[in-house]
Amino acid sequence: MSRLLVTGGAGFIGSNFVRYLVDHTDAREGDRAVEQITVLDKLTYASTREAVEGLERVELVVGDIADADVVEPLVARHDAVVHYAAESHNDNSLDDPSPFIRTNLVGTFTILEAVRKAGVRLHHVSTDEVYGDLDLDDPKRFTEDTPYNPSSPYSASKAGSDHLVRAWVRSFGVRATISNCSNNYGPWQHVEKFIPRQITNLITGGRPKLYGDGLNVRDWIHADDHSSAVWTILNEGRIGETYLIGADGEKSNLEVVQLILKHFGRPLDDFDHVTDRAGHDRRYAIESGKLRSELGWRPTYEDFEAGLANTIEWYQANEEWWRPHKEATEATYASKGQA
Ligand code: NAD
Ligand code: DAU
Repeated sequence: MSRLLVTGGAGFIGSNFVRYLVDHTDAREGDRAVEQITVLDKLTYASTREAVEGLERVELVVGDIADADVVEPLVARHDAVVHYAAESHNDNSLDDPSPFIRTNLVGTFTILEAVRKAGVRLHHVSTDEVYGDLDLDDPKRFTEDTPYNPSSPYSASKAGSDHLVRAWVRSFGVRATISNCSNNYGPWQHVEKFIPRQITNLITGGRPKLYGDGLNVRDWIHADDHSSAVWTILNEGRIGETYLIGADGEKSNLEVVQLILKHFGRPLDDFDHVTDRAGHDRRYAIESGKLRSELGWRPTYEDFEAGLANTIEWYQANEEWWRPHKEATEATYASKGQA
């Protein structure tokens, strides 16, 4: 596994994974050492070149995962592919689903054909949203056996990509694993997403914005814990298997907004309710027992409030990174009655 190709490695979670590799896989790691980390990224609006540029052992290749002429020779020069590249934002998929179909479905198909032809190991990064949603009072959580029931164009495209991976494992013997993770938070997340949006609203003198009644629940995990889980599965996961990744971080959106307001010393009712998302999933919750018992993985960020405080401090210290994206993002939300 000494040459790794990371698709979408200039995005939020992919770049966290690349930095995780830089920190944890140098020559001292013996048979876990990685010699070369290549990032393949189209550099869409959601990416940050500086998040991976200049890192030791890392090379950035700018290209589209749906372009076989770029993907096939590149994949053939690597021992494994970790596939993060995707269009990732539900609200955008409601405004225009087409890039989600192209990147998440055609792009994953292109990666699968490349790993099939070159005989290269693949880990496919997916989401808990493929399972649809749970009622607030449902005692169940998602497991690897939960039936697929996606709600949005984004989650349907990710569900389709998971099915493609399983078909290529079964029909062509591709050596792949899949992970489905819950909501990530941490540095470098685009200001369109829930937690960065509320933090940067407060920094810029605005108020947090809650969709609908604000009682929807997400199951939060720090991006570093997602990275350690993916690295564990890549090394120790059983081929053809799916592993759910989660850190027991269920919180309503209202609770998260109030923790952010508390950090800023603002009144706990200092937010607005805005137009709800169409088809808004009510609750996600992950049961990650298989990953923990079979592969011994554990999250390190078990105190959400402390991880959130670090994240808020990161956004306070890195305003020059997010500031240029803030105005246009808020204008898009305003046009939909969500600002
Ligand atoms: P992101 O939007 O921050 O980053 C996606 C990256 O993919 C960007 O750098 C973008 O430039 C790149 N990209 C998009 N289309 C491409 C294409 N056609 N070719 C090459 N590169 C392309 O997304 P993220 O939040 O970091 O999510 C990464 C992956 O993790 C996605 O597969 C997503 O479904 C999955 N995931 C995300 C979460 C979450 O909470 N954000 C949770 C579970 C799983
Ligand atoms: O569950 C994993 C998924 O988490 C990933 O697959 C997606 O790529 C990722 O974007 C995320 O999807 P969500 O739709 O859950 O994340 P988002 O940050 O868009 O919203 C989180 C919750 O907050 C959701 O219930 C909608 C709500 N929300 C969002 C925004 C932007 C608000 O209440 N106000 C907001 O301003």
